[in-house]
Amino acid sequence: MQTVKTLDMLRTALAHLRGAGGGDGARIALVPTMGALHEGHLTLVRRARAEADHVVASIFVNPKQFGANEDFGAYPRQLAEDAAMLESEGVALLWAPDAAAMYPSGFATNVSVAGVSEGLCGAARPGHFDGVATVVLKLFNQVSPDIAFFGEKDYQQLAVIRAMARDLDLTRPHPQAIIGVPTVREPDGLAMSSRNRYLSPGERAAAAALPRAMRQAVADMESGTEVAGTLAGLESELLAAGFSSIDYAVLADAASLEPLASLGKQPTRLLVAARIGGTRLIDNMAVVPR
Ligand code: PAF
Repeated sequence: MQTVKTLDMLRTALAHLRGAGGGDGARIALVPTMGALHEGHLTLVRRARAEADHVVASIFVNPKQFGANEDFGAYPRQLAEDAAMLESEGVALLWAPDAAAMYPSGFATNVSVAGVSEGLCGAARPGHFDGVATVVLKLFNQVSPDIAFFGEKDYQQLAVIRAMARDLDLTRPHPQAIIGVPTVREPDGLAMSSRNRYLSPGERAAAAALPRAMRQAVADMESGTEVAGTLAGLESELLAAGFSSIDYAVLADAASLEPLASLGKQPTRLLVAARIGGTRLIDNMAVVPR
């Protein structure tokens, strides 16, 4: 695996990969990450390997998607360890720019996707999805992948990226080649996240209440229990388990993320963001009407 840190080196390495795979025929997959890799990221890489000739992974802790009071400074950075994991999973190329390579002096463009980025995490983290959309569009243009993989754990992020790709008529990747991969969970059900390492042992144990309460809420709503009461019960259960506050607990249309007061026939998602200690956890699950 080659690691490149400048755009020139990336272009040279990509030209080589495309050539090595048989001219334009070599299929390139992109797995964008911010590092601090865990099994969830490695699952994306394995999916990518199965569907492309070469996998390019990126590691960039994107300052534009962190708010002023968020954890940009504290976000774990472990490039050597991450690179070793990616190499052992068969990644061909690691794109690891620094902030000056990604946002050279004078950088002045912002990509903003209205609608789907406004509620839920967008309401709690103003500017977050502009930062995500801006860097992901840059990564798409830099790597020009045939296919790109994102975790469903960040469900709203995936919806924002898909909306951007559709609205801007992207071709590399085509909107349909933006693939969402199901969330990978710890044995007690907690969704894997680079931020789980912020949890103290007591918080980590209590955090398992999140997927447990969500699974129960999904089962209740699927068997016809009223939505508002179920969501209120979910919030009370999380607070009783040791969560300090709930940013949102919402049943939403799976595509538009518009909140729903009742279960219809369309694909639906339960989405929750809640704080435990100083850590904000998010999770989401499909709700399938019976
Ligand atoms: O999900 C992430 O790790 C980041 O938001 C992403 C997509 C790599 C953009 O910085």
